[in-house]
Amino acid sequence: MERTNNLLQKREEASLGGGQKRIDSQHSKGKLTARERIHFLLDEDSFEEVGMFVTHRTSDFGLDEEKYPGDGVITGWGTVNGRLTYVYAQDFTVFGGSLSETHAEKICKIMDLALKNGAPLVGLNDSGGARIQEGVVSLGGYADIFYRNTLASGVVPQISAIMGPCAGGAVYSPALTDFILMVENTSYMFVTGPNVVKTVTHEEVSAEELGGASTHSTKSGVTHFSCANEIECITHIKQLLSYMPQNCEDDPALWDYEPKDEIRESLNTIIPLNANQPYDIRDVINLVIDEGSFFEVHQNYAENIVVGFSRIGGRSVGIVANQPAYLAGVLDIPASTKGARFVRFCDSFNIPLLVFEDVPGFLPGTDQEWNGIINHGAKLLYAFCEATVPRITVITRKAYGGAYCVMNSKHIGADLNYAWPTAEIAVMGAKGAAEIIFKKEITSADDQYQKLAEKEREYSELFANPYRAAERGFVDEVILPAETRHKLIKAFRMLENKAVKNPRKKHGNIPL
Ligand code: HXC
Repeated sequence: MERTNNLLQKREEASLGGGQKRIDSQHSKGKLTARERIHFLLDEDSFEEVGMFVTHRTSDFGLDEEKYPGDGVITGWGTVNGRLTYVYAQDFTVFGGSLSETHAEKICKIMDLALKNGAPLVGLNDSGGARIQEGVVSLGGYADIFYRNTLASGVVPQISAIMGPCAGGAVYSPALTDFILMVENTSYMFVTGPNVVKTVTHEEVSAEELGGASTHSTKSGVTHFSCANEIECITHIKQLLSYMPQNCEDDPALWDYEPKDEIRESLNTIIPLNANQPYDIRDVINLVIDEGSFFEVHQNYAENIVVGFSRIGGRSVGIVANQPAYLAGVLDIPASTKGARFVRFCDSFNIPLLVFEDVPGFLPGTDQEWNGIINHGAKLLYAFCEATVPRITVITRKAYGGAYCVMNSKHIGADLNYAWPTAEIAVMGAKGAAEIIFKKEITSADDQYQKLAEKEREYSELFANPYRAAERGFVDEVILPAETRHKLIKAFRMLENKAVKNPRKKHGNIPL
């Protein structure tokens, strides 16, 4: 009995982390404790903890007098919506959640289990970085984690939530994972903080401005989601997991779906009569997919391309869509890297790809060229070329130039390519084309404007339609917009057993 009580007492002690005072301080900052976060993430009573009584091994700086069971991180497994999930949550109430040798060992143990057993890993980060009193063993601990993040990449989904500080080299574990979520006003990520920035570059910048959720969701694209609070962040993690399989050998779960109203008449009039007028591609997406299933990733970054998960006929699909409502849907450096990373995630985890194409081409200019649009654009091309999941493209309007090839064309391995009657598939827009190929005729004409208009019309009649491509088989079918959902449900079902193997290699060399 005494031994039982002893255990219960130890558990009670461990559950308080760094003590009630520090828990209160955490709450006063609007933050949950590590245990509360796990409670909200996992299904009720499903959490199994590992390493509750682990303590650090340091005696420097009087640390042998100060030990807390768990050593600043809670690790274990449970279920999210019934599916096995591994989790670690850093406990800021213990040495500021800083990472000691033993803290790192606990995280590595969970990562090894996730990898061996093929289930997702969720990291809830809230840490002052390396445990300063431990020196190099703490750095070694980080490197052990980075190594495992990399080995697990593409094997099991890895998600990182940033719910407090995340600075220095510590940012590289989240950066190696598949998705990062940040909480507005209470989390930040940077390699060097505001003080160092001031010393080195003389810039004055706050932690929030330098590396808060808003900065990383709009300027750098480091975070995929900026969440209003911790509960929203945890809800987003659960939703993200719902589209994914458990590991790369598994398929995403099939959801129930009742066929009903598959013909969507309003799609027939969604494209403006004037080809230069914008429309929101999200309106198209929402009319095609299962109702309410679109979960946008990177919503406020590189808005000229829209990416996100959704379901169609109950099946998970990853959507990549040019956005005519932002910069006319042009492809630039951020859009290319955003699209490429998403395509690679979907392909790693057997999530079919659906592309909506309305793209005037790549963005011209010195800024783009000098910053390497050639390399970055090639990432998107490479990502599509190597993807072996079922792949379908719907060309809604413009498919011009190199962007036509890049955006999941048949030539680079798409399984099916549909075009709406409004599609324009050509080397470039009619005006630009006419100016080049009829230059002599136009400049020698009495009325140059009239000549240009006439030649523009001529080029447009020939190419501003989907039929030239359909004659060649580059487009498999020209469809009425209203039929799109119906066609896609049948097509993805047809493709469900697709089996393609790329040539054997150690790994490819994507242009980074
Ligand atoms: C040990 C730490 C710690 C750390 C915080 N604490 N960071 N203990 N190692 N890295 C402790 C504090 O002593 C304090 O203990 C408690 O955590 C809470 O910290 P406060 O400073 O009171 O909290 P707050 O005001 O909220 O500030 C949080 C903070 C600040 C911004 C994170 O603590 C801070 O700047 N810490 C140092 C950050 C840092 O430089 N880390 C090393 C980065 S380099 P008590 O006992 O009072 O509760 C790095 C390299 C990684 O991480 C390389 C990987 C390759």
